[in-house]
Amino acid sequence: MTVFWSIFVTVVTIGTLLGSYWLLTTTRKSEVKDGAHLEKDHTFDGIAELETPLPRWWYYLFLLTIAFSFAYLALFPGLGNFKGLLGWSSTGQWEGEVAAAAERYNPLFERYLDTPLLALTEDRKAMRMGQRIFGNYCAQCHGSAAQGAHGFPNLRDHDWLWGNSEAQIQASIRQGRQAAMPSWAAPLGEEGVRAMAQYVRSLSGAAHDAALAAEAAPKYSLFCVACHGPAGTGNIALGAPNLTDNIWLYGGSADEIAFTLRHGRNGQMPSHEGVLDDARIHLVAAYVLSLSKGARAAATSTAAGQ
Ligand code: HEC
Ligand code: HEC
Repeated sequence: MTVFWSIFVTVVTIGTLLGSYWLLTTTRKSEVKDGAHLEKDHTFDGIAELETPLPRWWYYLFLLTIAFSFAYLALFPGLGNFKGLLGWSSTGQWEGEVAAAAERYNPLFERYLDTPLLALTEDRKAMRMGQRIFGNYCAQCHGSAAQGAHGFPNLRDHDWLWGNSEAQIQASIRQGRQAAMPSWAAPLGEEGVRAMAQYVRSLSGAAHDAALAAEAAPKYSLFCVACHGPAGTGNIALGAPNLTDNIWLYGGSADEIAFTLRHGRNGQMPSHEGVLDDARIHLVAAYVLSLSKGARAAATSTAAGQ
């Protein structure tokens, strides 16, 4: 608050209180003695108007509230920039409560810090804690069961944009991820975009127009291999999705793929460093890892069977 407003607020507040006191005392007429009321010079229909002062208890109550206001304003902030004699502030109180909660609860989280993520996935208590952190900080985007949604990856499957090693998952959460898929409207043209959508569908064995796909194939080698790889299997260093697994972040119909190609995509996973401390990131990362354990085992056994 600037000095001007600080003085303004102080003057108006104290002025109002003094004004109330003045109003109260100057308008207070002599007290009722022996039940006799002063009669006003005003009678109508045989009824006389009486002048009755405030009951005494009411008058003292008024004085008390004014005294209370002065005491309160002396102790707590209320008069412009004056901080109050007690030095209390809502931020200070909040910080104190946060610190007290941290002191009480942080050790519960921190005792898991030394356990490796994979081992933690076997600890049911730790996983329940991880699930609650996920519910508070991640579910609004990834879904309460981490099943994902359009533009938000499913974290339960074996398909990873940025990798599923312990370090990669921690990095996704800690630093966040920024995907950059440029728009191809200009280099490909609208017809080229339509043809490329057919080629992309062919990569995962989905129904497609073979002639259009063949037409787009050379352009794929020109424009797309750098990020999605020659076979379309993607690149976790860039967050470029695998296009051959029929798992789609933005939809796999010809229209949806064409939309992706025409406009580009820039999915963003926000950084959670500063939002969550190390111990909580550790727990939620282990929880994320635990979600795809089934998918991981299935993927490994298919790979082994091949
Ligand atoms: C504001 C929405 C949002 C929130 C909140 C959010 N995420 Fe994400 N997250 C995303 C998006 C979008 C992506 C995909 C980024 C991309 O397109 O590459 C992503 C990607 C990820 C990935 C990488 C997935 C992969 O396939 O490699 C992980 C792991 C992840 N998030 C975990 C979490 C966890 C754990 C939390 C909570 C601590 C969280 N996210 C909170 C939006 C969010
Ligand atoms: C600079 C690297 C880069 C290039 C070049 C690139 N992509 Fe991508 N592509 C990405 C990234 C990163 C994503 C993920 C976007 C996101 O998560 O928001 C993506 C996403 C996609 C998707 C969406 C997949 C899904 O699951 O919904 C399709 C389809 C796609 N790219 C096709 C192509 C085609 C076809 C080309 C060539 C014309 C191409 N990309 C060129 C980086 C690239």
